[in-house]
Amino acid sequence: MSDQSKEKFFITTPIYYPSSRLHIGHAYCTVATDVMARYKRMRGADVIFLTGTDEHGQKIENKAKEAGLTPKQFVDSIVEAPKGVKDLWKLMNVSYDRFVRTTDASHLKTVQTVFRTMYENGDIYKGSYEGLYCTPCEAFWTQSQLKDGKCPDCGREVQPAKEEAYFFRASKYADRVRKLLTETDFLEPKSRVNEMVNNFIDCEGGLQDLCVSRTSFSWGVPVDFDGKHVVYVWLDALFSYLSPLGYLNENGEDWKRFWPADVHFIGKEIVRFHAIYWPAFLMSMGLPLPKKIFGHGWLNFNGDKMSKSKGNVVDPYLLAERYGVDALRFFMLRTFPFGSDGNFTNESLISCINVDLANDLGNLVSRTVAMVGKYFGGRLPLEQQEDEEKDDELITLACDLVHVYEEQMEKYAFQNALGEIFKVISRANKYIDENEPWKLAKDEALKPRLARVLYNLLETVRICGGLLQPFMPATAAEIMKRIGAAEYDWDSLAFFGTLYRDAQVENGPALFPRIDAAKELEELEKLQAAQAAAANPAPAEEEAPLPEPLPTIAFDDFTKVEMTVVKVLACENVKKSEKLLKFQLDDGSGTPRQILSGIAKFYKPEELIGKTLVAVTNLAPRKMMGQESRGMLLSAERGEKLHLLMLDDAIPAGSRLC
Ligand code: ME8
Repeated sequence: MSDQSKEKFFITTPIYYPSSRLHIGHAYCTVATDVMARYKRMRGADVIFLTGTDEHGQKIENKAKEAGLTPKQFVDSIVEAPKGVKDLWKLMNVSYDRFVRTTDASHLKTVQTVFRTMYENGDIYKGSYEGLYCTPCEAFWTQSQLKDGKCPDCGREVQPAKEEAYFFRASKYADRVRKLLTETDFLEPKSRVNEMVNNFIDCEGGLQDLCVSRTSFSWGVPVDFDGKHVVYVWLDALFSYLSPLGYLNENGEDWKRFWPADVHFIGKEIVRFHAIYWPAFLMSMGLPLPKKIFGHGWLNFNGDKMSKSKGNVVDPYLLAERYGVDALRFFMLRTFPFGSDGNFTNESLISCINVDLANDLGNLVSRTVAMVGKYFGGRLPLEQQEDEEKDDELITLACDLVHVYEEQMEKYAFQNALGEIFKVISRANKYIDENEPWKLAKDEALKPRLARVLYNLLETVRICGGLLQPFMPATAAEIMKRIGAAEYDWDSLAFFGTLYRDAQVENGPALFPRIDAAKELEELEKLQAAQAAAANPAPAEEEAPLPEPLPTIAFDDFTKVEMTVVKVLACENVKKSEKLLKFQLDDGSGTPRQILSGIAKFYKPEELIGKTLVAVTNLAPRKMMGQESRGMLLSAERGEKLHLLMLDDAIPAGSRLC
């Protein structure tokens, strides 16, 4: 039951396609939403944070078939299973309040009623569709909308398709939607407005009516008055923002208080559906419009779009296990401006942990707490000197922090909000160096000043830690525990001096241990490469053709070849030769035999020492690169590949092959 007197805040993430495992790019949006929800809760708002899964459509139907499952079994296996959608949000400490699945019966009811209402009010009509269809995006395109002849969203091939279909009269709402986009702050960042208006509303032919039903597959919400049609996934999916709040179903009446949504966070490629069709649908249903659509950028990996087929999707489980969930949450929002694309690299992740979290934040907390322990046994005395003028800068910065932070958070400028916190953290570290507490501690008369310096540091840590709470909930709680701050509600973060002067502090291990970057990068790359290989096993290499058969020889000829078991005593590259290795071999005679062999491309000398090989030992000696070679090592060759013939090491040197 919500408290009607409180400010309400309703925020959503997109509902995710459970067609394959989610990756760090998906987690980016959900973590940002979580940060915003926690921030609003901390401010005392009554929050609904909604997320969920988008489970209908041809793509899911096809994948289920491939997996030999029914569509419902298939989506269940991704939504509810270990490392599935819900499990990932648990890992990332995502505090959603509602989880909608578009296969929920209550959602079905909402969508069917919406469709029927729009049909009855004339906004949905029956026609036939002929166009170019992109199956992965479940979108029809006109020729002029294609980019280089391919789907403008995903760049894949489109197929001509024709079917009887219902259409939504989007054209009727074109003027109102244009106004909404150009004259209000409905869509942000502003840079996305022009693209929408120019490409979809003020384009040739104007805003086209939208095809909102399908007959070519059956995995969807059935149109209840025309059974062979299922509702187009986007009409279905968008109403998932309302169905969990009871709109047109029996899920309660939260929608009356919480609708319109305060903000929908979405990725940039789905802005079209949210900024054009969603408001038009809502206008058709006579509902108020969401206050804001925020289209965030994409996370790429090493400059490339993350994709399963490229084997470069970043696994949040791997990173969370190595560095902790808070570090990962922090990194994403500290490093990339929310409205733009960001380039995820392992280097930037590790450097962010080392610089911001280990050096700046971690050090400030551990130095401060350690000094309170060392000089005052873990509890500052009540008698403390008054502040000096030189304390003003730090105290003013810490006092103002909540306001500058709030200003940035309200604009969804997470990177800037964190930047403000870290300015204060840096200033506090400098304050330690300026005041040199270790010198104050040497003089008993200066103890009240020392206590004041440390108190100012504890207070700064409390305010910074409190404001970090939405980003790093577990870390913030740990910081508060260490500095003995029992409460840190929003109001207390605007006041310097609310921590008890004699609060009991508590030492602990480093919050973020420093990482040996070079070693860790190597290790991490290996692990990621192994994951990529497991996800996309290399296609079986084509075998090289068999060599031409040789003419038959007499048995006597064969017995003339002396093949001897040899052991490698020494092996090195031949100077100035890229091909040759020089071997010293034990052939059982007691005198090392030198053989040169053109296999440097396939083996490193050190890996052959001690190996048991086979050599033809009665070949006439010959010179190669000016050095004598007495025989030839046997190897097997097929195409570009070569393998030395290696024998069981138990076979003694000098044994003859027969
Ligand atoms: O679009 N970086 O679902 P979805 C940042 N079901 N964000 C990324 C990303 C990346 N590398 N990859 C994906 C859908 N995303 C629909 C939504 S809402 C009514 C229906 C984001 O699972 C992407 O931008 O394909 C989108 O916002 C979200 O993940 C879900 O993508």
